[in-house]
Amino acid sequence: LKHLLTIEGLPRATVQHILDTAESFVGVAEREVKKVPLLRGKSVFNLFFENSTRTRTTFEIAAKRLSADVLNLNINTSSASKGESLLDTVDNLAAMHADMFVVRHAASGAPFLIAEHLDRHHGPHVHVINAGDGRHAHPTQGLLDMYTIRHFKKDFTQLRVAIVGDVLHSRVARSDIHGLTTLGVPEVRVIGPLTLLPAGVEQMGVRVFTDMREGLKDVDVIIMLRLQNERMRGALLPSAQEYFKQYGLTREKLALAKPDAIVMHPGPMNRGVEIESQVADGPQSVILDQVTFGIAVRMAVMSILGAN
Ligand code: CP
Repeated sequence: LKHLLTIEGLPRATVQHILDTAESFVGVAEREVKKVPLLRGKSVFNLFFENSTRTRTTFEIAAKRLSADVLNLNINTSSASKGESLLDTVDNLAAMHADMFVVRHAASGAPFLIAEHLDRHHGPHVHVINAGDGRHAHPTQGLLDMYTIRHFKKDFTQLRVAIVGDVLHSRVARSDIHGLTTLGVPEVRVIGPLTLLPAGVEQMGVRVFTDMREGLKDVDVIIMLRLQNERMRGALLPSAQEYFKQYGLTREKLALAKPDAIVMHPGPMNRGVEIESQVADGPQSVILDQVTFGIAVRMAVMSILGAN
């Protein structure tokens, strides 16, 4: 693996190898072991053209636990604000001997463009990790979600998983669907209003439900999604109140899933819009476990890329 741009098309064995490698890093991620030297002498550049709390921070922690040098480019104070192009920015950072770029961008495809450019102009040893591009993909979130599900549920081949909410604008939903189908989950459901489901989503191998109560029946895993207001331009939407009534995860709706179902959310959460606090903070929630596992998963991805 040279770059990690999407989960789509990755062989099952590669996804499993990343999850197994992450498992071997849990002790380092959770600070039982301080650091490992796998990326010593390497420079990781975090390029976040969109805001982030979890992804940027856990990439930084993960890189430091692998002994890499980490540079966080502040886009607002960089020369991008004077009109410097994306690829000129990347060329200049590559000239500073960057070994790995972690890229988040509002434009779907931006990390692919950067990877192609680096391959053509800077040789074979600079790696790109997509940290979320537009509504397209967020592969490390998808992988940490798969890690979380494997941790709590063990066997992917026995599961019913529901992804609920704004699937249309969600890069996490796409990466999760690719991860779940690659790992052999027999039933992946998407639940939401038709205005927030992509046309033809069934072709991704999912069952579609517009009624949340029907869709949650007997599921093992519930992945809630945020209403991505920043990506909705004039979309026909219910009000937040109406949305919560129909698609908000409440204790009453959660009771329709299996009694040991886990509740996930990639964050940031809109409490009272897609999820009620008693569920987000309740005994079935693994939302903060997802964040912690993100460190080990990102260590795994960076160490695997860095070895190539
Ligand atoms: N899950 C996620 O991508 O969160 P951040 O936007 O805080 O990185």
